[in-house]
Amino acid sequence: MPAPLKNDLYLRALGRENTERTPVWVMRQAGRYLPEYLETRKRAGDFMTLCSTPELACEVTLQPLDRFNLDAAILFSDILTIPDAMGLGLRFEAGEGPIFDKPVRTRADIESLPVPDPADELRYVTDAVSLIRRELDGRVPLIGFSGSPWTLAVYMVEGRGTKDFSKVKGLMFSEPALMHQLLERTADSVTAYLNAQVEAGAQSLMIFDTWGGVLSPAMYREYSLAYMQRIVDGLKREAEGRRVPVVLFTKNGGAWLDAMADTGCDGLGVDWTTDLAVARQLTEDRVALQGNLDPSTLYATPERIREEVKRVLESYGHGPGHVFNLGHGIHQHVNPDHLGVMVDAVSEFSAR
Ligand code: CP3
Repeated sequence: MPAPLKNDLYLRALGRENTERTPVWVMRQAGRYLPEYLETRKRAGDFMTLCSTPELACEVTLQPLDRFNLDAAILFSDILTIPDAMGLGLRFEAGEGPIFDKPVRTRADIESLPVPDPADELRYVTDAVSLIRRELDGRVPLIGFSGSPWTLAVYMVEGRGTKDFSKVKGLMFSEPALMHQLLERTADSVTAYLNAQVEAGAQSLMIFDTWGGVLSPAMYREYSLAYMQRIVDGLKREAEGRRVPVVLFTKNGGAWLDAMADTGCDGLGVDWTTDLAVARQLTEDRVALQGNLDPSTLYATPERIREEVKRVLESYGHGPGHVFNLGHGIHQHVNPDHLGVMVDAVSEFSAR
């Protein structure tokens, strides 16, 4: 039997239950701003080896928890593990970000895409989840995650990061049926992958839709939200006698929070361009909200960071259902001590 949770603030806040204070964790909390992460990555040799070696993935998952009073751990991995397992040939080039050697462009490419078996090609991920759960020993809950089908499709079709989305949007407008086929297959892969993470011990799930915000409202509903809905509908929502909450995060998705809340998810990630008070009005307390300090705030002085933390807490206002986070991932050049200032300020200012 897994150890009982010593700190379940994060799960209770996502269930919109009262908590003694606002729980906090940080997107990319295990990453390059931590010298100990860079040391482990060096030992691993490269980023994908770090992801695919459970002992090392476990080690870096725990690093931020040893430094800061965080209320959740997030599996150390990447959203691109699925397309990698589909055989697209992922590599990370220094200064360039992710690159796929075999991007998906044609009907033949899409029709031959496999749905990876999480127990096989992605076994290293579920092995990492089990190991992390064992090492956490009930300290805080573990978050599993995946990319949204649309966001994964952006990387799969473009083959690398993009500024204009010309190839993926070109496919969407010129071959809509084919695009839907790609998204369907990706959504089914994500569903199986997330359910396998839950079976291995993930206690909450998050879906990162980093690129949903580049779509028009109609295209967002049809090409991104519809597939997150398909995933939410297919997820195991309970494990070990407890709800496994699901959080959806569309970066730049402030205009669609209402529609996102209708999927039946438990929480929504909110970036810093939407005030939490507005997000709360839009979602009418149907879901919990997670966010949303501008990550650049961590370049400011400790005093200024504390003021901004207070502002975010006040914009959420009274009542349960807030999980404090940055509005997107922490930047790599941030001083780790500044994150400590933020985390401590959340506890101090939100104590009830
Ligand atoms: O949050 C965590 O601590 C868990 C780990 C995590 C990583 N990536 C580790 C990582 C998570 C949740 C992700 C998600 C992810 N990966 C997203 C969605 C969230 C977001 O940021 O919008 C996306 C779009 C990716 C794809 C990806 N992975 C990119 C574009 C890059 C390059 C980033 C860059 O700035 O170079 C990565 C690499 C990556 N994933 C790193 C980390 C810590 C940096 C790799 C390194 O150590 O060099």
